[in-house]
Amino acid sequence: MALAHTRIFGQAADISPLPSLLYKAYIETYGCQMNFSDSELVAGILHAEGYGFTPDAEEADLILINTCAIREHAEEKIWQRLKYFQSLKRKRPHLVIGVIGCMAERLKKKLLEEAPVVDIVAGPDSYRHLPHLIRQVESGAKAIHVLLSREETYADIAPLRLSPHRVSAYISIMRGCNNMCSFCIVPFTRGRERSRPWETIVEEARTLSEQGYREITLLGQNVDSYQDKDVRFADLLARVAAAAPHSWIRFATSHPKDMLDEVLETIASYPNLTPYIHLPIQSGSDAVLQRMNRGYTADWYLHRIETIRRYLPQAVVSTDIIVGFCGETEADFEATLSLMRAARFDAVYHFMYSERPGTLAARRYPDDIPPEVKQERLERVIATAQELSLQSNRTQIGTDQPVLLEKPARRNPEDMAGRTFSGRSVVVRKAASLYKPGDILSVHIQEASSATLIGYASDRFSSSA
Ligand code: 5AD
Ligand code: SF4
Repeated sequence: MALAHTRIFGQAADISPLPSLLYKAYIETYGCQMNFSDSELVAGILHAEGYGFTPDAEEADLILINTCAIREHAEEKIWQRLKYFQSLKRKRPHLVIGVIGCMAERLKKKLLEEAPVVDIVAGPDSYRHLPHLIRQVESGAKAIHVLLSREETYADIAPLRLSPHRVSAYISIMRGCNNMCSFCIVPFTRGRERSRPWETIVEEARTLSEQGYREITLLGQNVDSYQDKDVRFADLLARVAAAAPHSWIRFATSHPKDMLDEVLETIASYPNLTPYIHLPIQSGSDAVLQRMNRGYTADWYLHRIETIRRYLPQAVVSTDIIVGFCGETEADFEATLSLMRAARFDAVYHFMYSERPGTLAARRYPDDIPPEVKQERLERVIATAQELSLQSNRTQIGTDQPVLLEKPARRNPEDMAGRTFSGRSVVVRKAASLYKPGDILSVHIQEASSATLIGYASDRFSSSA
């Protein structure tokens, strides 16, 4: 899953003025899209309690930091932020500070012991209890809730949408993970897998589509094992596509061992299901894959990629790669590079292995690849990834692509940034004065770099999806 470090803030405009806006909350989010979506649930829970929101931590009465535990580096950043929040608390002693999410779940009581500035610790299944935990702090005690649940899906909670433009929205369709990849902390921080009732997902998608959201992303740690009653992931996709015909539907993350052809067939048969597949490979070496407990071989994975490209010739396929996993030899690593080329990935997210205490790998295998070797391998993965992305993006030059506009472009505010139907990033020249976020245009692609396509609007895209 793409790991952007995002800070999100409640938009004043999103919140109807409530008479009892006594407290202002500030929420900062790290980690994956699932965390971003969880912050919207948390904001929904606080909103129902009468909280307002502020984009400025310095004027908040409540600071919640939604954390990631996937790599050590993700946690180091949180410790830094806590130091800053401590300085705010010196000026505003009534300030309540909560650490929520995966790092809270991993460290539990230790967080309170090691960071006295923290008042609340709440794990991913504990957000319903936040109002109660806040009251506990107001009455003078520290508050902690880190019990994992087998049922919690927050299906009945209305998320408060926090993105600045009403263009894209996430829907969590399931929580937790039953795979036991040996490197991964997620099963320990997010618990057992459970699927949210399909009716509530379809209803949420319908509402978002009616509200004008043009892109809806269905989220789960392993969407292919979604199951509610007799509805499996392919059925869910079809129902969401029909309920939200004016929105482009995306999803993440797929697991190579579980992704069924019927999902690909369904994508091919609905005009608003987007051919973007994020399929983490992790390594191209069978020996490493086995130690990672991934449940497939490199060859098997390549066959899945062939199948994807057969059903969806326009598919954009991205992946995750970990370099420097325990015992990874130069030959193992080279197998990863050649698999990258064989799979012709359109985009690659790359990570250095970071040992997480308590995982299978931490207990079983020494973290024996020196940091400088990990670094050097990472650089080689990056170079190969850029070459492949450039090749892939160049195939688009001269074509007309439907593009959903998201926001003004960073480099030149006269241009706008958006994405093609299959998920490629695009800069549309001189679009800012003519169009707005949420518009879908036909864009003629003139140039391509490894990171983005560049083009101009050739026409407002005629169909709604
Ligand atoms: N070290 C490095 N990368 C990791 N990931 C998961 N756990 C670790 C770890 N311990 C990567 C995987 C996963 C992505 C979300 O993060 O590639 O797919
Ligand atoms: Fe998301 Fe995993 Fe990080 Fe938790 S540990 S925030 S599930 S990436």
